[in-house]
Amino acid sequence: MSAPILQVDGLVKHFPTARKGQVVHAVNDVSFAIRAGETVGMVGESGSGKSTIGRAVLRLLEPTSGSIHFQGRDIAHLPERALRPLRADMQIVFQDPWAALNPRLRARDLIEEPLLLHTDLDKVARRSRAAGLADRVHLSDALLDRYPAELSGGQLQRVCIARAIATNPKLIVFDEPTSSLDLSVRAGILELLHELRTETGAAMLFITHDLGTVKLISDRVLVLYLGRIVEEAPTGAIFERGAHPYTQALMSAHLPPDPSVRLRRHVLEGEIPSPIGLPPGCGFASRCPLAVERCRTLSPPLEALGPSHRAACLRIAEGANRLDAATPA
Ligand SMILES: Nc1ncnc2c1ncn2[C@@H]1O[C@H](COP(=O)(O)OP(=O)(O)O)[C@@H](O)[C@H]1O
Ligand SMILES: [Mg+2]
Repeated sequence: MSAPILQVDGLVKHFPTARKGQVVHAVNDVSFAIRAGETVGMVGESGSGKSTIGRAVLRLLEPTSGSIHFQGRDIAHLPERALRPLRADMQIVFQDPWAALNPRLRARDLIEEPLLLHTDLDKVARRSRAAGLADRVHLSDALLDRYPAELSGGQLQRVCIARAIATNPKLIVFDEPTSSLDLSVRAGILELLHELRTETGAAMLFITHDLGTVKLISDRVLVLYLGRIVEEAPTGAIFERGAHPYTQALMSAHLPPDPSVRLRRHVLEGEIPSPIGLPPGCGFASRCPLAVERCRTLSPPLEALGPSHRAACLRIAEGANRLDAATPA
């Protein structure tokens, strides 16, 4: 197998709060890797640290500790000046295309902007490259002279995607790229991302809380809870054989494609704990139907269950990690 494009080890990000000495534990010791051409989905409830991880790996923010190897080089604490030449190789598509784009530039100029910043193409070459990019994201020529205010959400997100692929990046982070869009245009954007996934050969980190999207687009899935990876597995295994009780609860909310599979829903009670006063032990223990006393004091390590399957739950070793077995139908 090829060396990973992105290798994250022991990533930690704390944010200061208004109170002195008190911090938000947004990301707590997260490790994972993504190879060229691979799309890794990242799921978890709001506030679980997904966007913080996405921004940290692109160095849009500096981690508190840990290493981020991008194409073999640790960029975790590189100064902005040293990051600048790498920027063309690492791109992001945000949730809100309205906020991401300069309203004073036409679509054509917005698509040309990264080429202007990161290449030495002349004006004519940029123009022709931008037309090619518009074509790749299925944005018709007639729309290129429009300003953002004259485009729909789906069209704007296509502009953002064209910008993100303009410099042939090695890594693209998608941070909930369809969640601000109307349901009717989401499918089209997903289809486009699906196409680009094979076409660009880039490594992709796909952040979403929509499980249907994750199933469609990812090779592997990372399940996040309270700033920690609680499970990592190939997409099929996450949906069918999730080992962590949180994964099982999350997936049970997603209708199985096979109607013969009896559906058991596991509705989680309570709220995700505050990342300020991080609880000791397993972060999920306060909501876990399977938690025992040890779960509240011992922090479960992320342990290998198979070649590409890891999960962090003390009850797995005892075979006591199945929600279906533990709760009445
Ligand atoms: N700039 C910031 N300052 C303080 N707290 C932040 C900041 N950004 C994120 N957080 C906090 O970090 C935690 C993780 O946030 P985030 O990464 O946005 O989660 P997600 O994308 O999964 O919803 C949340 O508790 C959030 O409030
Ligand atoms: Mg987010």
